[in-house]
Amino acid sequence: MSADIADVAVIGGTGFYSFLDDPDEHTVETPYGAPSAAIAVGTVAGRRVAFLPRHGNHHEFPPHRINHRANLWALRSLGVRQVLAPCAVGGLRHTVEPGDVVVPDQLVDRTQGRVSSYVETGAVHLPFADPYCDRITATVAAADARIKKGGTMVVIEGPRFSTRAESQHYAQQGWDLINMTGAPEAMLAREMRQCYAAIALVTDMDAGAETGSGVGQEEVFALFKANLERLKGLLTDTVAALPDPDGCSCSTWADGMELTYDVPGTT
Ligand code: ADE
Repeated sequence: MSADIADVAVIGGTGFYSFLDDPDEHTVETPYGAPSAAIAVGTVAGRRVAFLPRHGNHHEFPPHRINHRANLWALRSLGVRQVLAPCAVGGLRHTVEPGDVVVPDQLVDRTQGRVSSYVETGAVHLPFADPYCDRITATVAAADARIKKGGTMVVIEGPRFSTRAESQHYAQQGWDLINMTGAPEAMLAREMRQCYAAIALVTDMDAGAETGSGVGQEEVFALFKANLERLKGLLTDTVAALPDPDGCSCSTWADGMELTYDVPGTT
């Protein structure tokens, strides 16, 4: 597989299954199995962009069954060095409301039992204090004045939503957003030496922030659908303004290190 097919990727989340006009499809084999779907590649704002629906073309992969290792490796094998990761999230506190788009700057991983690394052997300890690329989050925020910048996203195992007590506990920690797919995607992108940013659309207020009957899947899908075109516009504007990934610490952390796994396109 040639490593110069695409340089930017959009990984679509719940309710987001296509992005590109007239794309070429690339079926990629990886050492980790198949990615969620064939990867669509097309041109957006003069850049070669890959699109991968995280849950599969027909939402066949629930959050705890997504093969994130295959997804990030496959994108990197096409040449992708910058990843935009839109996702549906719940709001934990009323610092956010449904319909808000947030670019979080912190992540708490509360998933269980997911394979969260390519490292199988040796001493490879990646820096992850700041899980998202600040160059990309700044670009997203600059594209639309309504974007909320910063905030902490906790990622739970799913596929169930949280109990009210769990949700209140997360809110008491000062965390803002909750989701089921943001990990281990973010750490694997860092291991693939890619710049990565989550772009979170608040689809609901989580159980602890609401007095009603809790979150339901229908409201998540409906809110996402209502905001999909706006999100696509934001992604297009972001792609047009993305800075050069060269020299970014999302990639340079591994300079001079002996990585014990394959990062396609690097020596
Ligand atoms: N994705 C969208 N809304 C969510 C919620 N309330 N909890 C976990 N994941 C979500």
